[in-house]
Amino acid sequence: MFDKQLLSGKNIIVTGGGTGLGKSMASRFAELGANLVITSRRKDVISDTAKELQKLGGEVIAIPCDVRDPDQVEKMVKQTVEELGSIDILLNNAAGNFISPTENLSPNAFTTVIDIVLNGTFHCTQAAGKFMRKNKSGVILNIVTTYAWTGSGYVVPSACAKAGVLAMTRSLAVEWAKYGIRSVAIAPGPFPTKGAWSRLAPPGMGIEKKMKARVPLKRLGEHIELANLASYLISDQASYINGEVVTIDGGEWLQGAGEMNELEKIPKAAWKLLEMKRKKKKK
Ligand code: HXC
Ligand code: NAP
Repeated sequence: MFDKQLLSGKNIIVTGGGTGLGKSMASRFAELGANLVITSRRKDVISDTAKELQKLGGEVIAIPCDVRDPDQVEKMVKQTVEELGSIDILLNNAAGNFISPTENLSPNAFTTVIDIVLNGTFHCTQAAGKFMRKNKSGVILNIVTTYAWTGSGYVVPSACAKAGVLAMTRSLAVEWAKYGIRSVAIAPGPFPTKGAWSRLAPPGMGIEKKMKARVPLKRLGEHIELANLASYLISDQASYINGEVVTIDGGEWLQGAGEMNELEKIPKAAWKLLEMKRKKKKK
């Protein structure tokens, strides 16, 4: 799909880059010539991923960091600059989430998710932004969800946090454009990962089947589809896209939103009958 050098020489930080979608996006960036810092809390996980991605070409460094802690984030970003020379792109992908009736949430349950998703994104953006502003160039790509704007029951901390990240994306698209920094977001629909599925689609509840049924394209997303979109959005080819959130969900959220979409369930024969009735009435 792309020139093999699309991201050649770009230095990219991927938070939550050791697993799931972060790993898949990082892997595609490496194939397209980027140098990477992969960061998350678990050192062994990011080290294994870094070793795997090094085989694809560029430099890949694993730096452990909890995005909730601004001091750790500051150190991780400083080390990135020392080792790679600069930061061109920040991918805020790290997240925490679980399903729960809202009335069962403790204050700490709510705060934990807000701390990872919203505060963590802010800490990384602030620390990397300092270098980007100095260089007068940079791209910040935030991973949100479609319930950032629809809201969703049973994932209230995540919905509130992702809504905040979306607001941050749009706010900084304007405020930091003067420093040559673009801010963009992707809202993925359902993409199977161990992290998300173990927490949001526990086996035996038929959730995956229901997820597929809700998507107009009747399938889940493939990681490469998201990775290609992310590669394009962070590349210089997308240099006039700023403040946009791109949805990649097979039409899922619109399926729930359109008032008449439920009419999908009406069989063809019933439509025919309605048509015949209408014509008869006109005559
Ligand atoms: C209610 C819960 C809970 C649950 C934890 N808590 N799980 N409350 N229901 N299922 C509460 C705990 O009781 C505790 O509150 C507080 O949350 C913190 O829990 P800890 O386990 O101590 O937190 P921590 O070890 O920091 O782990 C954070 C985590 C965990 C978010 C709970 O799941 C994690 O590390 N997740 C990272 C990866 C992840 O979540 N990936 C999925 C992203 S998928 P108390 O009061 O008892 O102290 C995603 C998809 C979106 O975002 C859209 C999909 C379509
Ligand atoms: P995942 O594999 O669980 O990814 C979450 C990552 O965040 C992990 O690598 C985790 O690593 C890291 N992380 C969690 N807490 C952290 C912290 N405090 N500091 C640093 N890193 C932390 O799940 P995923 O499905 O790939 O999710 C990736 C992104 O896509 C998330 O933003 C998620 O909200 C979004 N998303 C996913 C889907 C989907 O269907 N999969 C749909 C919509 C949006 P450690 O545990 O090692 O820290």
